[in-house]
Amino acid sequence: MFEKLDICPPDPILGLTEAFKKDPNPKKINLGVGEYKDAFGKTPVLETVKKAERILTDEETDKLYLPIDGHAGYKRHVQLLVFGEAHPVIQSQRAVTVQTPGGTGALRVGADFLSKVNPSVTVWVSEPTWPNHPGIFAAANIITKSYPYYNAAQKTLDFENLMSTLEKIPAGEVVLFHGGCHNPTGVDPSPAQWEAIANMAAAKGWIPFVDFAYQGFAEGIDSDATGVRTLAATVPEMLIASSFSKNFGLYNERVGALTLVASSESQAQTALGHIKRCIRTNYSNPPAHGAMLVSMILDTPELKKQWESEVRQMRERIARMRTLFVHTLQSKGVTQDFSFIEKQKGMFSFSGLSPEHVKLLREKHSIYIVGNGRINVAGMTEQNMDALCSAIAEVLRQA
Ligand code: LMR
Repeated sequence: MFEKLDICPPDPILGLTEAFKKDPNPKKINLGVGEYKDAFGKTPVLETVKKAERILTDEETDKLYLPIDGHAGYKRHVQLLVFGEAHPVIQSQRAVTVQTPGGTGALRVGADFLSKVNPSVTVWVSEPTWPNHPGIFAAANIITKSYPYYNAAQKTLDFENLMSTLEKIPAGEVVLFHGGCHNPTGVDPSPAQWEAIANMAAAKGWIPFVDFAYQGFAEGIDSDATGVRTLAATVPEMLIASSFSKNFGLYNERVGALTLVASSESQAQTALGHIKRCIRTNYSNPPAHGAMLVSMILDTPELKKQWESEVRQMRERIARMRTLFVHTLQSKGVTQDFSFIEKQKGMFSFSGLSPEHVKLLREKHSIYIVGNGRINVAGMTEQNMDALCSAIAEVLRQA
């Protein structure tokens, strides 16, 4: 059976990490995978996570299975983070949350659930989007279509074309949005544009599915939830995939959640039963450690305050790197305008570098960037900036 298999191409993002690790060049720079690096190029465990881990090790009395839908305290905190305490969805209890292995797990559980509810459902994804999105839905036998999102010439949101496509999407189809820090472009709708999107969803009857992986990395933990909260206050039904890989730095603990909003509490509970069935037949129940840490941090006022400050520090360092990157490119004589990079939000920038530039950067300078030109700004440091910008200036002159 296995001898008939063709070779699978490497993953466009995680495959880069594999190649980066094998590269013997001591000056190599990895701006591929979305992992935060500090000023020393390291991804340390957050202080608050370390503290919570010490408490957990002392207090934990068993390693029994979690319920299928996960840790109760964690699920409550996910909802409070996503919606805020006073949101009507919380008050009316129209939302149910399940703990999942990471944001990808949340998207896949959501996809399995959608495919079960409506096997012929179509999911619309932004063009461009995270390369894994179409694959996740395809794995659940769901067809994806693209909606316009990015104006490459202006480096802005292509709002007019986005809205005219959203207007034509039939009721019952699903539209996937990035809750903030759009991956790969770093370009998000404004609050007024979210409002218009939410009103369009309510008027047309398509269902928003929000991939919310970078809460706190754009402007703040609460303000980054504007889009998701506006949608939830306007539409009867939606789905949200949360990830705590980035804002808690819990990448390898796989901490995520799928939240479903329904028209009523009882419909939400019915849907929860079906989602639990999807989980039980997939991985049975989620891993506990990371979710218990998140729950403990958000439950302990002192730890929560410190965590908020750690998220702010990560966000502010990335913003400083955006500015330094633009200025250093200028100082290297690059004449192309890269000032848009300062306006983009989150870890990523859609640099506009071509596949040829990306190839030259990798082959000649051991600088790893996703093939579509997406750069992880969070991988830049004061130390690697000069070499990085010299290399970019050189490839821009060549190709
Ligand atoms: C990324 O886009 O780099 C991250 O979300 C990591 C991943 O799984 O691709």
